[in-house]
Amino acid sequence: MTDMRPADTAADHSTVSVVVNGQQIQARPGELLIDACERNGTYIPRFCHHPRMNPVGMCRMCLVEVDTGRGSSLQPSCMVPVSDNMAVETESEVTKKAQDGVLEFLLINHPLDCPVCDKGGECPLQDQTMAYGPGESRFIEEKRHFEKPIPISDAVYLDRERCILCDRCTRFADEVAGDALIHFMDRGSSTQVNTFPDEPFASYFSGNTVQICPVGALTAKPYRFKARPWDLEETISTAWTDSVGSRITVQSSRDQVLRVLGVDADPVNWGWLSDKERFAFEALNSESRLVAPMVRNDGRLETVGWAVAFERAVAALDGVDPNRVAVIGGARLNNEAQYAWAKLAKGVIGTDHVDAQLGDGLPAEVVLGLPRATIDDACRGGGTIILCGPDPKEDLGALYLRLRHAVVQDGATLIELTPKRTGLSNIAKHSLHPRPGEVGELAAALVAAATSPDSEAAPNTDLEGSASSADLVGSASSADLVGSASSADLVGSASSADLVGSASSADLEGSGYARREQSGSGYARQLQRAASDLSGPVTVVLGRASLSESAAATIDAAVALSALDDVSFLSALRRGNVHGALDAGLAPGLLPGRTTLERGAHRFADAWPSVPENVGHDAAGILRASKAGEIDTLILLGADPLNDFPDAELAREGMAGAGTVIAVDLLPNDTVMAAADVILAAAGPTESAGTFTNLEGRVSVCGQIVTAAGISRPDWMIASEIAIRMGSDLGFDSVAAIRAELTTVSELHAPLTEEVLGNSQVDGVLLNGNGDIEPPDPAEATSPVNDRYSLRLLTTRRMYDDGTALRHSPASSGHASPLELRLNPVDFDKIGVQEGTVVRVESAKDHLDMPVRVDPGVPVGSAAVPWRTLGADCRPLIDASAVVTDVRVERL
Ligand code: SF4
Ligand code: SF4
Ligand code: FES
Repeated sequence: MTDMRPADTAADHSTVSVVVNGQQIQARPGELLIDACERNGTYIPRFCHHPRMNPVGMCRMCLVEVDTGRGSSLQPSCMVPVSDNMAVETESEVTKKAQDGVLEFLLINHPLDCPVCDKGGECPLQDQTMAYGPGESRFIEEKRHFEKPIPISDAVYLDRERCILCDRCTRFADEVAGDALIHFMDRGSSTQVNTFPDEPFASYFSGNTVQICPVGALTAKPYRFKARPWDLEETISTAWTDSVGSRITVQSSRDQVLRVLGVDADPVNWGWLSDKERFAFEALNSESRLVAPMVRNDGRLETVGWAVAFERAVAALDGVDPNRVAVIGGARLNNEAQYAWAKLAKGVIGTDHVDAQLGDGLPAEVVLGLPRATIDDACRGGGTIILCGPDPKEDLGALYLRLRHAVVQDGATLIELTPKRTGLSNIAKHSLHPRPGEVGELAAALVAAATSPDSEAAPNTDLEGSASSADLVGSASSADLVGSASSADLVGSASSADLVGSASSADLEGSGYARREQSGSGYARQLQRAASDLSGPVTVVLGRASLSESAAATIDAAVALSALDDVSFLSALRRGNVHGALDAGLAPGLLPGRTTLERGAHRFADAWPSVPENVGHDAAGILRASKAGEIDTLILLGADPLNDFPDAELAREGMAGAGTVIAVDLLPNDTVMAAADVILAAAGPTESAGTFTNLEGRVSVCGQIVTAAGISRPDWMIASEIAIRMGSDLGFDSVAAIRAELTTVSELHAPLTEEVLGNSQVDGVLLNGNGDIEPPDPAEATSPVNDRYSLRLLTTRRMYDDGTALRHSPASSGHASPLELRLNPVDFDKIGVQEGTVVRVESAKDHLDMPVRVDPGVPVGSAAVPWRTLGADCRPLIDASAVVTDVRVERL
């Protein structure tokens, strides 16, 4: 496999001498000639070559004269690795004639669309025709015609006449995204790129094909006919829709964001973006944007000026017992705004009831207290990735692409400990699927198998007799399992194997039924094999896989896995800048700089008026306190608890019990519109400058490119104004001033000088270390034993849920999925209905009716439903106070 990494990240630093146009250059052994030349200042024209994909030599635009000692010949430089003393001519007459000929051929059937083509002005075909092509066409025959353009997905149009068959889009879809949904069809001069009629290009990553298409054959709906490249202004920034922190270029015209492109940041996203990251800007241009402050009078929200809104907000904060004020949210904000709000909440108001997560994340000590890994650490060849969290394809799109490349191209080993099949299962070496609440026991058993002295010697060891195996296969305890009817069902049947393990997804796919008779010892062998395949450095990608189980089992899994040799953890928390929020202290018990109230308070003695003395509530605690009437003022920082908190009933009761609700937000989400007494309209991520911290702890800039919508204000400015009106100046009047204070009070942030950030525009700055945060203690999750008629609810996110931003982003709406129940074939058969039949799913809290479908990727004993989807919500079933939620499925 050709190494597609840039030369400076490769392990082998010895060089090869090549003579290019008479000048000697140094190249890396194995490096492709086209890359070596470019790195040394000689650009060779190309269409199909892409540095992040395998070469195919499709277009022949990169032909150059190459002499390796046997005489000179024309060779495609994107297919030829350098060799010592190779002589290359990129500007000879022979080379120029070849380039001229290739372009003439490419243009034979190319339409004269430039005046109406979105690619015009930034088109490699235009540019290279001008630079290397024939001055005029000799072709007078009728050109080939296709219907144009045709929509191939909700976000992408295809104009086949313009396609030069470079194979970039098809390779990306197949090799990079693993969604082989766009293909070449027909033969010879009839060859065209297209999708199959009943298989739309329904990929979460379709927008990347538009970006890498070297012509205007693929265009993105949101950008079509909106602007010409020379009209655009642009700034480098960071994607805000998830925590990967993909680097982007945001482009605008006439003070409106029109396009987002991926930037090739080597440690982060390699230029790739999920469609959510790429098209989420549409929500910022939405007519529904909150463009001015509002206050509620007599039950109705009215638009007001800032003075009135601040007056109402401050009246609800000034003089109120700090213990009766709480803040939920903050992951939407940039780092500087997060620091401003942390200082306002903890330093001025004096409350520690602050939580940027909404009951769907992990405690700070789990995220910050364990040895931390970067994306590059996780993706190194020869290492092992343990996925113990959500499906990265659904939650963290750009990370999914990096992990996929690491496994497929670079030889990393992937072991999944996930509650169901994921987007990576088909390339995982081992896929072990614990039921909700049991991943801690599974992780402990894996570690025990890996560290047991006779694990090599006895690969067929039957773990059924050991505490770990019994726990693993069943539930609370081995005693429970062995003595009961349900244990017999679980342990003795095929289902137990399905329940927790599969050797590979291939097994899984074909074998939902076939492996019914597999015994517990078969599962133990799988576990043993997974343990023996742990090799090299281990990176645990850790997050909350199911939102209908508490975090306790995940915490236990993290603690267990931390006992492995050479292990580090990459957080898979999903919310945008949630890691920046933790670093800024927007969590109970934390202060900015990965420190705690107990250990770090002295550092804030000069800069902050005060620091809370006692650790406050997390989001669930805040909602419970609010329900009990103990919260007089609740601030929502870009939070929508009514839609986002896993326990819908607690969210509803908590919001109903809150005194004054102050919302700082961009869009009218359900909580804001139903419960806010004061709305402070905030500027969006492209409307205010700052920085973002991604899941590795990498800080990168977010550039302002347009003015704030209406009279909305940056989040930090809102915090600052409230503080002033409360008689306590936060002490800064610009983003730079906030960063200057942050670098003073926080050792962690000290490296973030303007100069360092300016020099790290693309890659950002990695903030290393755990600070003062200790590793977590075991949570000792104990799942109750469910009876033989119950299934354990498994609730996983989809990339496209019913989030507020997505509702306002038309290019993303087509991906919404329906609310449906998915069951393993074993459990499905027990219900005795046809696929698609509406059944009743009943928990101790409520019931919902939804269609049921067979899914071998769901383990036996689990009932999988998607997290909120458009128009449907599974949360009434979930009890946030329970370790797991059990449900029964009944025919109607
Ligand atoms: Fe012109 Fe390029 Fe568009 Fe072709 S793809 S019509 S050359 S702008
Ligand atoms: Fe290449 Fe674009 Fe054609 Fe795809 S559509 S093969 S990327 S020219
Ligand atoms: Fe080399 Fe296309 S770039 S063949």
